[in-house]
Parts: sequence; structure tokens; C-alpha cells
Amino acid sequence: MKNLISQLLAEAVETLKSQGVLPADLSPSIQVENARDKAHGDFASNLAMMLAKPAGMKPRDLAEKLVAAMPAHEAVAQVNIAGPGFINIFQDSAWLAGQLESALADEHLSVAPANPPQRVVIDYSSPNLAKEMHVGHLRSTIIGDAVARILEFLGHEVIRQNHVGDWGTQFGMLLAYLEENPVAAESELGDLENFYRQAKKRFDEDATFADRARERVVQLQAGDQACLDLWHTFNDISLGHCQAVYDRLGVSLRRDDVRGESAYNDELADIVRQLEATGLLTESEGARCVFLDQFTNSEGKPLPVIVQKAGGGYLYATTDLAAMRYRNNALHADRVLYFVDQRQALHFQQVFAVARKAGFVPESMELEHMGFGTMNGADGKPFKTRDGGTVKLADLLEEAEQRAYRLVQEKNPDLSADELRRIAKAVGIGAVKYADLSKHRSSDYSFNFELMLSFEGNTAPYLMYAYTRVASIFRKLERSMNNLDDLAPLKLEADAETELAAHLAQFGNTLNYVAREGTPHVLCTYLYELAGRFSSFYEQCPVLAAERAEQRDSRLRLSALTGRTLRQGLNLLGIDTLERM
Ligand code: ARG
Repeated sequence: MKNLISQLLAEAVETLKSQGVLPADLSPSIQVENARDKAHGDFASNLAMMLAKPAGMKPRDLAEKLVAAMPAHEAVAQVNIAGPGFINIFQDSAWLAGQLESALADEHLSVAPANPPQRVVIDYSSPNLAKEMHVGHLRSTIIGDAVARILEFLGHEVIRQNHVGDWGTQFGMLLAYLEENPVAAESELGDLENFYRQAKKRFDEDATFADRARERVVQLQAGDQACLDLWHTFNDISLGHCQAVYDRLGVSLRRDDVRGESAYNDELADIVRQLEATGLLTESEGARCVFLDQFTNSEGKPLPVIVQKAGGGYLYATTDLAAMRYRNNALHADRVLYFVDQRQALHFQQVFAVARKAGFVPESMELEHMGFGTMNGADGKPFKTRDGGTVKLADLLEEAEQRAYRLVQEKNPDLSADELRRIAKAVGIGAVKYADLSKHRSSDYSFNFELMLSFEGNTAPYLMYAYTRVASIFRKLERSMNNLDDLAPLKLEADAETELAAHLAQFGNTLNYVAREGTPHVLCTYLYELAGRFSSFYEQCPVLAAERAEQRDSRLRLSALTGRTLRQGLNLLGIDTLERM
């Protein structure tokens, strides 16, 4: 609605320009806000005040001209001028009700498919396989997955790429250790974290072991078969750990989505050759680098992107350049999104710039680093176990489910143990995911079990519970919220109804915003407000006890659309809804 109103106002501005009332070079950014006092309108704009000066007119006079020049639209019931020159707009509630009817009749809730649809590559999760996945990978995995689902819902083609770290010098150490005691290693590999620690200990304490580890790196890079076999064994087990976490989290990543760093090995030499051919390469202290003018350090000295070390080895940046070229040449991406820690921001700015300059990707391919902050403990310090170790994801999810179990049991002591476990899993996992998704991704956030599992506030349990409230209305009537054909139509009468309806109509806009910005917290806020508006409506407007049959039907329709929007919204965030809890 706000977009529509700004459009109508923009047309009015154009008309006034053509009449010479407004200067022709004006291109104002038009603000439309929700009106504070509903008695004066649903929306308000200060456009006339903004343009009064350049127009050389009194704001009120200009407001009158703008209103007169505004094209009529069925969504707009009335336009008034108030105070010093505010333009107040009343929305037409019959039109709004019609919008909601269409949403109810559509499985897709009237969310229009993207036009044109894009092919979007999403690089997310991407853990290093040398170690076990830890909390640091949780954010990328959860946020990336939500954005992938939303883009797909909007009709885009999404290609998931799990750019795992499956190559590099630390593998020499792991392979040397694996080969040294294959039996012990087999069992220790069940616990990758421990395996890595043991290998690192050997590496630090024994110089001959360290030499052997370095030798293995060279052999691995040279394609030695025995080394490659060990490496495959190791990666298989490590990827199995990751997949177990994805499955438990309900994350849509599959083994096929893995395209690790090693997949680009054969292209790295060519990447460097291409950089050389385009004249971008400089040699600096034996290393081969690209210097771009826009990247300098705090003293103004140029910062290099190193693509090949003095010893001949390639780097993280070289692999990313090859991956970008692949995503263009082979995947034909229109847009590539990277859900990676904010601390890698400079890395991505640099490799994006180099890739464009070298012609690995065309100008038309969008490259966006969707950075995120650090996950801290409840004390605001980086998240660690009590003895300072990294927190394993599996342990964290286990604790979330156990806590949820106790909470649900307190609320609902009559549920069977099976039922409790099922609900606890949905609530526990949902809470962990939602806590992460509901914060702006670029800020750091504190992981806090108590807050995320609360049934009050902007949490998964609160929203899941709001959904079950709607579901229970329909259960009482023994009917589904998906088919309301026999009910009387929607009619918006009370303020609480109109406010709920106006919010429901914003679902598609909200999803489009999140798809553009990669910010699922905007969808979280939307759903939280939706649940709040539903609560007010439910308090003020009896549904099952409505005075008239048509009134009850209309309210049932509003409730059903609320329930379906909550369910769809939560599912897009990767959160399951329950019919009761
Ligand atoms: N493996 C890297 C890490 O754990 C993240 C990789 C992100 N993706 C990329 N194309 N660089 O830090």
C-alpha cells in the first residue's frame, strides 16, 4: 500500500512538473508513513512540506495541488490535507478485503512470482572439514538457508553451494596422523574435534612428524593416490558429521550441494595465468599479487590480493576467484550471495573487484557478501564451553531440545512422552534458529537459552504458540483453515480487523524486501507483529462467539489467513509449526 501511494504521489509530482507548478529537475524521495492517528487516515506523507521551498509555495497550497493531481485508485477511499500540509490517505477497506480474499484462494497467498526470475547461487554454511562444525557455522547455515527458501518461494532458481574447506596445509597433519595409527584414528574420527587436537599435538611436539605432515601436503597436491584415498576417507566422515547437523536442524543442504575448495584445484594455475594475461599481476617478495588502487591500508599503502605464494602454493582468494568464474561460466548465475562472517568483508570486496577487473564475471552478475556478526555467549563474550573450548553444535542442539522438553512438560503435563519429544524437538530447534534469524545479521548476538525459549516476546515458541491458537479455533469447528468456500465473505468493520488485514496484505512486500537485502529478521519482525495484531483482534472481536453468522464467517477468514501466513512465514524461516503444543 505504501508503495502504491508513493507511486500515485510520484505521478502527481510529474503532472505538476509538466504544468510548470514544480521545477522540472525535481526528483524527490517520497516518504509514506503509517498514520499515527487512525481517525485522520491510514497513511500520511509530508511531501508537500518537503517540496514547498523548491516550488516557492505554501505547503498547504501545494498539498491541494498534489491531491488534485493524484490519479484515482480503487485502493484509496479518501485523501485529506491536515495541519501545516500533511497529506492523509484513507485506504478502502472493501478493496483491502478483496485483496485478502484473493490471498485466501491462493496456495501461494497471492505472493506474485518474481519477474523476471533470477538464477541465484547461495554460498552458505561452508565449514572447514578439518574440524568439527561449531557454533560459528550456525549463523551462516541458518540465515543462508532461510534466504534460499524465500528466494525459491518467490520463484527464483536457487543453486546452493556448500564451499567447504577441504583443502590446505592442515590436511597434511591430519593425513600423517591418520596413517600413523589407523586403528586408533578410526575410533577417534567419531570425534573430529579430538582427532584434530591429537594431530595438532603430534605436529607441535614431534619435528619428524611435522616434516612428514608437510611431505603429505606436497604429495596430496601432486595427486599421490594413497594420500588421496586417505583424504577421501577423512572428508567423507567429516561431511557425514555436517549432514547429521543439517538434518537435525532441518536445513535444506544435501550432499550434492557440496562443492568444496578442492573442486577448483585444477583451475588455479589458469586463474593466475589469466591475471597475468590481463596485466593485473605484480610480483612482490616472490609472491604473485594483484594491487587495486581502491584498497589501501591505514597508512595509505596499497594492499595486495595474494594469489600465489612464493613457494608456489595458492590461496583462499585464488580459489574464490575460480569459484566465481565457475558460477558464471558453468552455473550461469545472475546473482551470487555469500553468507560469510563479517570479518571476511575486505576479502570479498577485494576478490569481487579482481574478478570483475579480470573479466571472470560480467558486470551484470551481482555479487553480494551478506556478512554477519559473531555469536557470543550470554555474557557477551565469544561463545565457549565452561572450560574455554569451542561448543559443539550437536551438544548445543541437544541442550536446546532438553530444555524445551521440560518447558513444554510444565505447560502441558498430560502429553505423552512421545508427543512431548516431538514438540520439544520442534520448539528447541525452532528456538535456536529463530533467535539467530530475528537479529539483524550484521550485528553480533548473544546466545541465551532462557530468552530464546521464552513463550513471551519475539521468540519461536511465542510464534509457534500463536499458530496453534489459530489452529485450535478450526479444530473446535472440525474444519480446515485451508478451505473456507462455504463461508460468507470478508468484511472489515472493527479497527482491530482493519489493522490485522492491512498487515496481512504486506506479506509479499516483506518477502521481497528480505530477498533483496538477505535479512530474514525483517520477516521475523513481520510475523511477530502479525501475532500481536492477531492477539488484539482476538481480544476485541469474538470469533466463535460473534454476534452474527456473517460476522463470524468474516472473522474466521481473517483468522485462517493469519494462521496460514504464520505457518508459511515460519516454514520459510525453516521452522516447523505444530497443530497443538
Ligand atoms: N570455509 C570458510 C570459513 O570457514 C568459509 C567459506 C565461505 N565461502 C567462500 N566462498 N569463501 O571461514
